[in-house]
Amino acid sequence: MKCSKCGSSAVINLHQHHLRLCEAHFLDFYSSMVQRAIEHYTMFWPEDRLLVAVSGGKDSLALWDVLLRLGYQAEGLYISLGIDEGIGYSANSRTMCEKFVAGHHPGALLHVVDLRAEHGCGIPELARSELRGRNKPCAVCGLVKRHIMNRVARDGGFSAIATGHNLDDEVAVLFQNTLHWKAGYLARQAPVLDEREGLARKVKPLVRCYERESAAYALLRGIDYIYDECPFSKGATTNFYKELLNDLEMRSPAAKQQFYLHFLQARDSGQIRFEASDQSTVEGEAEPLLRICTRCGQPTVAQDVCAFCRLWERHGEEKHG
Ligand code: AMP
Ligand code: FES
Ligand code: ZN
Ligand code: ZN
Repeated sequence: MKCSKCGSSAVINLHQHHLRLCEAHFLDFYSSMVQRAIEHYTMFWPEDRLLVAVSGGKDSLALWDVLLRLGYQAEGLYISLGIDEGIGYSANSRTMCEKFVAGHHPGALLHVVDLRAEHGCGIPELARSELRGRNKPCAVCGLVKRHIMNRVARDGGFSAIATGHNLDDEVAVLFQNTLHWKAGYLARQAPVLDEREGLARKVKPLVRCYERESAAYALLRGIDYIYDECPFSKGATTNFYKELLNDLEMRSPAAKQQFYLHFLQARDSGQIRFEASDQSTVEGEAEPLLRICTRCGQPTVAQDVCAFCRLWERHGEEKHG
């Protein structure tokens, strides 16, 4: 297999782009895909200070690496969620972030928020008291992560939070929301969520990159990352949709990319229209009518106390009562 650009030996075949690339040309290709997405969706400028949310996985570490190599000012944020489940999940993922900084960008700044050190307990205990074992902790975890990311971004005066959501993630969400015709979510799913009323701007520079491309980029750049998925994500419906979509992509290369990019084009040009309703609001995401939490001062859709503060309040009552 020969590189489509230079004829030397290719390391990857990108069926969806009709390209086979050698190591050097693939690394260039991946960076320019990210740069093009940043420009196309007007995500940020070189003078902006970015907070990259890093989980220790391939996507977010690849993203941080690309942004720094492209010359952007990007600091990292790792949230230690206190998840062990016999595999030391949080401890290992934190180590990956620290190893990445030490080995690849010794000058880069990594902010760490440790839930257990700050609040006395991690996601598993918090979710157990909240859901009494009825459900997976992912919803509680998502709420906690969004709240902390927003707080750090706001306190640190960052222009935007960048996350490692890739094309596969976005397509799976789009597919799920389309199957159920969730108009409110379909109205808002986007590579950029603008800043508003105390909610930091959020950007997803990897929306045009397949997960497989991030894995290849991390491998070729020698970035060590955590291979394990979060132990609570096993059997998640999103994973099921990802499998279905991978089958589709095998039979019809570029199907995922076209489904997602054409959706954005059709919606943003007004060809298709969805109404965002109040019922589909998710705290921490861009939605109408925000108030200020009387406890923590962060924006909320609730009347007085935000969902994050109420969560810890209920947990405290449960523990002591
Ligand atoms: P996930 O929700 O696990 O698919 O992660 C989506 C994105 O959220 C990742 O690419 C990261 O940018 C960010 N993220 C996930 N977990 C963490 C974490 N523990 N600390 C900081 N950022 C995270
Ligand atoms: Fe939060 Fe899995 S990462 S529950
Ligand atoms: Zn080449
Ligand atoms: Zn609050």
